[in-house]
Amino acid sequence: HKNINCISNKNIFWNTCYITQQDRELLHKHRAILLWFTGLSGSGKSILANVLETKLHHRNISTYMLDGDNVRHGLCQDLGFSDHDRHENIRRVGEAARLMVDAGVVVLATFISPYHRERQMVRNMFPVNHFIEIFVDTPCHVCEQRDSKGLYKRARLGEIENFTGISSPYERPKQPDIHLDGQKSITELINQILRSSCIEHLSK
Ligand code: PPS
Repeated sequence: HKNINCISNKNIFWNTCYITQQDRELLHKHRAILLWFTGLSGSGKSILANVLETKLHHRNISTYMLDGDNVRHGLCQDLGFSDHDRHENIRRVGEAARLMVDAGVVVLATFISPYHRERQMVRNMFPVNHFIEIFVDTPCHVCEQRDSKGLYKRARLGEIENFTGISSPYERPKQPDIHLDGQKSITELINQILRSSCIEHLSK
């Protein structure tokens, strides 16, 4: 697939490196995968990913978190929330995650990623079972009640355009690898993730 990606520029080749992802996984003693958290703003993606990352870290697993808000301060600081910009945001983040998984790391990514198309695009960047879609299913009215950043209120006042759930759509994942009821406790949800067959056998 690597060569196919290069057909747009015939002068660029793929350099095969001596050390592979598999070598790095053996060194780290665990598999490298991408855990992709999707859900509305305020659904609980970031807190869940943070608690999970801490648990994995304490189990000697090399992790890295890619967070929507944080990435938009750097790698994606030129992007807004139009459909076009969200697409480019997710494309860049997918590629960044791909590099990190190649580096042998378990990546936790928290992005609203409201459209099937983009989530599928990222899934297609990875081999089967290396992209785990985790749907943090919290109803919009609950997220709006929480409104920890005050964004829903501002969106209702018309101060933020294209706000997901209010003035921009969220396409619910049809077959997520892990489906979380965002109204349950963090502890319950973390246990559900840790019990899931998708990440049960991380260690080599
Ligand atoms: S996307 O759709 O995946 O590209 O969005 P993402 O990169 O995850 O960024 C979501 C965070 O940006 C803040 N924010 C908005 N969200 C949705 N719609 C609009 N218009 C918007 N403007 C700013 C918001 O804090 C999101 O953070 P989370 O952590 O999801 O609450």
